[in-house]
Amino acid sequence: MAVATATKPASGTDTKHNIDAIRQGFYDRIAKKDMAPLWKVMGSVVTKEPVTRCQPHVWHYDDVKSLVMESGGLITAEEAQRRVLVLENPALHGESKATNTLFAGIQMILPNEIAPAHRHVSSAIRFVLDGEGAYTAVEGEKSFMSPGDFVITANWAPHDHGNTSSKPMLWLDVLDFPQVNFFEASFAEQFGAATQSTSRADGDSLAFYGSGVLPDGTPARPNSSPVINYTYARTRPIIERMMKAGDIDKRHGARVNYANPATGGPVLPTMGAWLAMFPKGFKGEPYRATDGTIFVCVEGEGTTTVDGKVLNWAPNDVFVVPPWKRYQHNAPDGAVLFSISDRPAQKALGIWREEQ
Ligand SMILES: [Fe+2]
Repeated sequence: MAVATATKPASGTDTKHNIDAIRQGFYDRIAKKDMAPLWKVMGSVVTKEPVTRCQPHVWHYDDVKSLVMESGGLITAEEAQRRVLVLENPALHGESKATNTLFAGIQMILPNEIAPAHRHVSSAIRFVLDGEGAYTAVEGEKSFMSPGDFVITANWAPHDHGNTSSKPMLWLDVLDFPQVNFFEASFAEQFGAATQSTSRADGDSLAFYGSGVLPDGTPARPNSSPVINYTYARTRPIIERMMKAGDIDKRHGARVNYANPATGGPVLPTMGAWLAMFPKGFKGEPYRATDGTIFVCVEGEGTTTVDGKVLNWAPNDVFVVPPWKRYQHNAPDGAVLFSISDRPAQKALGIWREEQ
């Protein structure tokens, strides 16, 4: 009788080891051809919910102001082009980002200084914190700034800053260059002259476009609002009136968004901004959305709880709420908050979501 010879069947462990080794060999071979298996990374590239590296964080103005003032002795605005201290998200050091899509910095311009004229593809906003009487010139129009003013510089608009007052002026700069750089679409240009020639009267843009009427022939430019400076003096009374009328959202307080009067849309395609007033005793309901948001306390004080972390804020403090983190505002004595996010960009791409 013939005896059948049989190889010993592989154990389960051996089989798995062999398969793993064969697969790894395959991955190594395809890597040499600049390819990789999607199934190894699927869970981290198509996540079930938003994943952010950005952390909730607050920059207190007491710290920020003294350090920015110190920088005034180190370098001139002209030498620096822009004397700005970057507000770096603690999780994104070295990347010049407050959130993954927004840059934030505190800029200072001292009396008689000029920050020279230039332009760039990145759009910018300024929210004025301190000082009185410095100006931003945008596309041939000078706008003198006061605390709480919201000034925009759209994509490729020539701009420069000067301070003809006797006090330093500080403002929050927010730019969309992380978005522009994500697309690798950045251009910038310096001008020969430090200042641009101003051909329009100061304040024309707000006078023409900021009163519920539009001059004949106003172009509907979706990429930028024709208003350069949305002054606090005109915006604050609106939210105050909303409060009196009881138009107070349970999460966001009495809030307006800054709009392009020619389109009704956002002031810039990449960034949207809001001003909110909270009544005394305000305990906001929790909220989250996919746009990471930079807030500035304009008046009063309070706290914002983000994913269990409590951020305390007082005037001119800047804080960040990362995307999709649930947050909730408290303002025992009432407060005013400015905020800015990439919501228009997300909406244009059809990816923005919120959860009440
Ligand atoms: Fe600039």
